[in-house]
Amino acid sequence: MSNKPVDVVVVGELNVDIILNKIEGFPAVGKEIIANTMHVTLGSSSAIFASNLSSLSANVAFIGRIGNDNFAKLVLESLNRRHVETSHIVTSATSSTGATIVLTYDQDRANVTYPGAMNELCIDDIDFRFLSGARHLHFSSYFMQPGIRKDVTTLFRKARELGLTTSLDTQWDPDEKWDIPLRELLPFVTLFMPNSQELLHMTRAGSIGEGIRILQPFANHIIVKNGSNGAVAWDGQNLIEQPAFMNDNPVDTIGAGDSFNAGFIKGFINGEPVRKCLELGALTGAISTTKAGGTGAFESPETVSEIASEKFNYPFRP
Ligand SMILES: Nc1ncnc2c1ncn2[C@@H]1O[C@H](COP(=O)(O)OP(=O)(O)OP(=O)(O)O)[C@@H](O)[C@H]1O
Ligand SMILES: [Mg+2]
Repeated sequence: MSNKPVDVVVVGELNVDIILNKIEGFPAVGKEIIANTMHVTLGSSSAIFASNLSSLSANVAFIGRIGNDNFAKLVLESLNRRHVETSHIVTSATSSTGATIVLTYDQDRANVTYPGAMNELCIDDIDFRFLSGARHLHFSSYFMQPGIRKDVTTLFRKARELGLTTSLDTQWDPDEKWDIPLRELLPFVTLFMPNSQELLHMTRAGSIGEGIRILQPFANHIIVKNGSNGAVAWDGQNLIEQPAFMNDNPVDTIGAGDSFNAGFIKGFINGEPVRKCLELGALTGAISTTKAGGTGAFESPETVSEIASEKFNYPFRP
């Protein structure tokens, strides 16, 4: 085991989700419709990942930006409640905390995001001495963070030089330009973790297999999430397929990808082989679909363990 004080440092965006469910129709300009339920919770891919990984008994710290407002309090309280270390989160003097309005229709959803302070996170916000005390760096939502985007290769290179392993989940590009220097960046990324649609856009490939083949010459491990079809990984030698742990009645799929990442990375920092990490990722992705929102199913290691055995018949003691 490592003697470093922090297992995983997450660098990324912070916002709240305002989730509207059971909506009577589609919104139209000049009209009004009713949503029959609402939840206001911790949002953002990076924060959901950090919170859920902490609930898998990893020591997690966060570096990001928030505003000086009530949403910031909600973000910090939610992370602290799940024991994520927040002392390196910077408060912006000029921007509000970001927020996403989520309109949920059956299993799919439409999101509108106000980025706020997440636009300002920059490389100067990263305390590299602090980072050197961690084992692993995770960065998410590349396209949503203009302030740090141009320096992401430097961030990953420095993390590798400091002896950390690294992971990157790009998430969706709201501009749909998919402009990312993969050839330059991926050599410093231990685990590249897009979903299937994101992979196809970034590589201009026609299939997951082709996308992986395009990246193989310069990537390390490639992990591709594919919704209820499960996931596929390239571990540097073999292609490994993982079916989903089927949940026929998902409450919602918010944060399934981030929860998958949490399970995978928990396995990875424990030294498990990629095949086992992939299985743990699929399990925690499925666990996420059993409760509302991105963090609802990850209250504590004990509740995660209970859902794993009761819903998926899988013995898991994080
Ligand atoms: N309905 C489902 N039932 C069981 N498992 C699921 C379901 N949906 C997703 N998963 C699991 O969660 C993993 C991640 O989900 P998905 O592919 O939707 O990620 P994503 O598109 O990155 O999600 P996100 O919107 O959270 O970023 C999948 O690989 C799968 O193992
Ligand atoms: Mg995703």
